[in-house]
Amino acid sequence: MTDSPFTVAIDGPAAAGKGTISKQVAAHFGFAHLDTGLLYRAVGARTLTGEDALQAALALTPDDLHRDGLRTPQVADAASQVAAMPAVRKALVAFQKEFARRPGGAVLDGRDIGTVICPEADAKLFVTASAEVRAARRHKELAGKGLTVTYDEVLADQLARDARDAGRADAPMTQAADAVLIDTSDMTIEQAVARAIAEIERRMTGDA
Ligand code: CDP
Repeated sequence: MTDSPFTVAIDGPAAAGKGTISKQVAAHFGFAHLDTGLLYRAVGARTLTGEDALQAALALTPDDLHRDGLRTPQVADAASQVAAMPAVRKALVAFQKEFARRPGGAVLDGRDIGTVICPEADAKLFVTASAEVRAARRHKELAGKGLTVTYDEVLADQLARDARDAGRADAPMTQAADAVLIDTSDMTIEQAVARAIAEIERRMTGDA
């Protein structure tokens, strides 16, 4: 571990494995981890109870990120809707940028980390997988939590969310020109994590 900032940006579509990879990469290097999707999920969740999206974004507290129920498909959809609002995104930028520069290193995962939040990140990964593989993984995860939702519903929800996230005008989900693409469709989680760690090590040693 180092005291100087080292930022890892991990972007990609819904349920591509970003979360698991980010957590394990952060643990491996001793870096802090921020799941930026949780910020949008927390704002989205507050709008479901009638709150204004911008007010919710401005009033967000760390406690909001630890609430139950942020991983439901309803909240994911609300997150993607508030994430298309430029004022909401703007309200969340400073916190994310500050987190990225913390001493000791940071991993941030989301949709616009390598392009908008940390264009200067030391290592950038774009993690993806086929729509079917991603829907199957998310369906298993939700079923494991006892949610009654079909594979077809999960697939349709994700396709709609990916299209909204990639098509919005402000900070659309896109692979940064200097990001390494990791397609996890045919990888185990161990293989995907090992690949991510190897790519980051190449950046650290200047071999990339
Ligand atoms: O877990 P999953 O990949 O399905 O979603 P997430 O990372 O929790 O993100 C939820 C939603 O937040 C996404 O569909 C995006 O609309 C939004 N988001 C964003 O716009 N920018 C980010 N940096 C992270 C998430």
